[in-house]
Order: sequence, then C-alpha cells, then structure tokens
Amino acid sequence: LVVILDFGSQYSHLIARRLRECGVYSELRSCATRADELEPLLASQRLKGIILSGGPASVYEDGSPHIDPRVLELGIPILGICYGFQEMCHQLGGQVVKGDKQEFGYAELSVVQEGAERVLGAGLLFNELPARVKVWMSHGDKVQKLPDGFHDIATTANTEHASAACEARKMYGVQFHPEVTHSTYGMEILRNFVKQICGCAGDWSMNEFLSECTRDIKAMVGDAHVIGAVSGGVDSTVAAVLLNHAIGHQFHAILVDNGVLRKDEASEVISRLRDRCHVDLDVVDASELFLGKLQGVTEPEQKRKIIGNTFIEVFEQEAKAFSAKFLLQGTLYPDVIESLSHKGPSATIKTHHNVGGLPDRMDLKLIEPLRFLFKDEVRALGLVLGIERESVFRHPFPGPGLAIRILGEITPERLRKLREADAIYIEELRRNNLYDKIAQAFAALLPVKAVGVMGDMRTYEEIITLRAVETTDFMTADWFEFPHDVMKRISTRIVNEVRGVNRVLLDVTSKPPGTVEYL
Ligand code: XMP
Repeated sequence: LVVILDFGSQYSHLIARRLRECGVYSELRSCATRADELEPLLASQRLKGIILSGGPASVYEDGSPHIDPRVLELGIPILGICYGFQEMCHQLGGQVVKGDKQEFGYAELSVVQEGAERVLGAGLLFNELPARVKVWMSHGDKVQKLPDGFHDIATTANTEHASAACEARKMYGVQFHPEVTHSTYGMEILRNFVKQICGCAGDWSMNEFLSECTRDIKAMVGDAHVIGAVSGGVDSTVAAVLLNHAIGHQFHAILVDNGVLRKDEASEVISRLRDRCHVDLDVVDASELFLGKLQGVTEPEQKRKIIGNTFIEVFEQEAKAFSAKFLLQGTLYPDVIESLSHKGPSATIKTHHNVGGLPDRMDLKLIEPLRFLFKDEVRALGLVLGIERESVFRHPFPGPGLAIRILGEITPERLRKLREADAIYIEELRRNNLYDKIAQAFAALLPVKAVGVMGDMRTYEEIITLRAVETTDFMTADWFEFPHDVMKRISTRIVNEVRGVNRVLLDVTSKPPGTVEYL
C-alpha cells in the first residue's frame, strides 16, 4: 500500500490510478491525515511509501494546507510532487518562493550525471530513463533552497531544483507531474519510486482487492445487518454482489421501482441479483406513488427533486424491517475526490446523489467499498465477482431514469413509447456490435409532435431522438458516428413498431455545448 496525501491537485486521482496500473494498491487520503493514523498500517507492514500530491495553494501563505510534520519522521520512502515537493522542503528547512514566472506545459528535464554515472537518487528515481526527458510542469512557486541533506537529481532550463533527493531519509521530490501522460516517462518514474525505492512487489490485482475488501467489510460489520439500494446500474450491482460475497444474507438489497425504469429493468435486476447472484433482494413497486407525484411536472430539476425525495421516503419505510446498522453506497473514486479536495466540493457535483441525507436521518453508518476505485476498476471487480459481462459493461443510467428523458409531461403512454423505442435502439446496437464502442446511448422523447403519413393516413405523432456519445469521463463528449445502414434499420423499426411515434431524429451535438442528457 502506498498512501497519497492529497493537497487538492486536479491530478491527485491520477497518481492513485497510475500506481494501481503498476500493480501497487494505493489510497488517496486527506493531507490532514495524522502520522498516528498511518502508524498501524506501518506496523502491519502494509504501508510501503507515501506520496505528497500537488495542490493549488502556496506553502508560505497563511491558511495553506500542511502535513503533520511527524509524517516526515515515519522512516518510509516519501515522494513529493509539485506542491508536495515544496511542502517537504518548506517543512525541512528549505525555502519556497514565488517564481519569477509561472511555468505551465512541457519542459525538458536533464538528469544530473557525474562523469558517466547518474548521481545517487537519480539512479533510483530515473533508473533506465534517457538522460533527457519531456515532463509536464504546472507551478507558480518554486523551491529556492533545498533542505540540508538534499541534492539535485534533475534540472530544467527554468527550474534548477526540478527534482531532488535525500537518500539517507528516503525522500524524493519532483517539481513536475509524473502522473500525467504528457510526462513521457512519468509512469516509469512512479514505477521506480514504488518498486525500486519503496520495494513494493507490484503484484496487486483485483483478486487481492476482493480479499482485502472482504476482510475489511467483515471486520467493520461484525454480525450487524447492512441495507443498500440497487438500481440496474453497474456500481450498485457490483457493490451489492460484493457485500453478498462478504457477509451473505446479513446484506439486504432494496430495489425501488420508481415507475421510470427502462423496459423490463425490474425483472432483469431480479433475475441477475436474486436468481443468479443469490443476493437477498426486496423489490418495492412504488411506481404509482412516483408517477402520481410527477403528474403534470415538466421542469427538469423539479422532476429530479420529486424522485430524490420520494425515493428517500420509500426506502426509509422499507428499510425499517431490517433493523440495519449500515447503509451501502456505491460511491466511486471520482465522487470521493470531489469531497476530499482541499478546495472543497467542486461545481461538477450533480443533484443526483439521491440517497443524500439518508444515513443521518436513519442513523446508519455508511459503507462504501468502491470508494477507491475508478469505473473501469469497478467493472474489473464485477467480473472477478462473477457478474456477467453484459451487466458489468452497461452504459450509465441516471437515477431519475426516464423522467429526464421524457421532455415535457410524463404520462404512462409517453413512458410506453420511450421504453419501447429505447429497447429497440439498444437491441440493435448490441446486435450490430456497436454497444461496447459507445460510452452511453439512449432514446429520448421530444415535447413536440410532427405530421406524418402512414398507410394513406395523416398522422400527428411524437418524435424520438437518439443520442450516442463517446467519452471517457462524461465531462466532455463527442457524438458517435453511426454506420448509415444501422441508423436506417433503427429508425425503420422504431416508427414501425412503436405505436404513436412517427419520426426518429439523430442528435449530432457534442458536449459542450450540449450535455449528454436532455434535461
Ligand atoms: P450530463 O447530462 O450532465 O450527463 O452531460 C453526464 C453523465 O451524468 C449522468 N447524469 C445523471 N446521473 N442522475 C444521475 O444519476 C442525474 O440526475 C443525472 N444527470 C446526468 C448522465 O446520464 C451522464 O452519464
């Protein structure tokens, strides 16, 4: 285990990710983590090294974040990155100042050599790297004077102390960001740190994660009961199967049918979780309650609020029967980063955290076993747990469901049209091997009608729009370019098979300026 103490850099999560790609398990923790919180990990020989991340503050300013100085006394290898490097120097008697100019972008790093040999430290951190490599810089402050015992191991034209080391204390620092792909040998530098310097074996895999996680869940829960909401989505499915794997029927999953699920969703969740994965699953059909409250509502945020609040109401009622002490949440790493960050929650947090407030209201402790994983790692865990590929690789589906894909009023009739059209669309994508090439695809129902002609009859019916995007992070997205024959087939099938729809449109808008969803 390598712990990353986070000073709020936008790249902190990437460090964790890169280490796991090296086969080394890592966790991101707040920069305020105290040394005594890390000592038990050290005593059990799990903790092999610490990385201090970058961050937006200046170490010499009042109110800037600092680590517990005793962290530097733990005696294990430490790598400071950007702000983390400056913090290390600042705390150990070096000097950090505002740079004459800020430095953003590429710089050429020269590894310090003496004769034909690399100096000590450079030999370890830059092992098997060329003498000159491209790195990515993003800083305004710089280290002016190194602490006693440190010496330079690499420099750039603008930054004298681009990398420094104190081998006796196993401390290393880099001013640049090895975790971003723009730093051409960044991955190798991180690998050298965790393998050569920290001595990590690099044999961590999802199987290890599963056994460690199972052990932690058992220890945390004891003989208490855990409840958790499931949708049809990847995260809640993997979290539920994981809990079932760890504690069996001390875990109870609850599926609330909010009336705006996709076609056959509830029955598919039942057959997947209850029948195939043997999860104790309770299904509550609250669709009438939800649809009653949504009647006549067209405003998007209003729809979200109604669904979120009604969900809490129904879940709370249902959960009472289990007298549980814990609530399972499928929170993923990107959500954790947003709340850990020194800058505080960022503006990207959506209103869709619809179980928010539940733990306090119901006096439940949260259990979030996926909180250190990225989406693709959750998928890998799902496969290790034996969940079938098709559900592990499903596209994301929003909590408020089809309510935010029906523009205008939600009626049972409009829900039927959208459900049928969406099912045809997804079926054709799978049939034509396109589903896995697309990050998210869905149909939506527009709030306008159009004239058409069917069998010599004039029609005045509804319009379906098809959305398909390619993206990795959903913050930006591009529309997917369909083969024409597939589009033709989907369009023909929808207008022929879905009663009340006479037109199909294809959305060719990227994000930005569009969003993935319509509401
Ligand atoms: P947007 O529309 O913001 O979508 O570009 C980005 C991603 O977020 C999902 N999304 C939601 N998920 N509740 C959710 O659970 C919501 O209210 C919600 N709104 C958007 C969207 O499906 C896409 O994956």
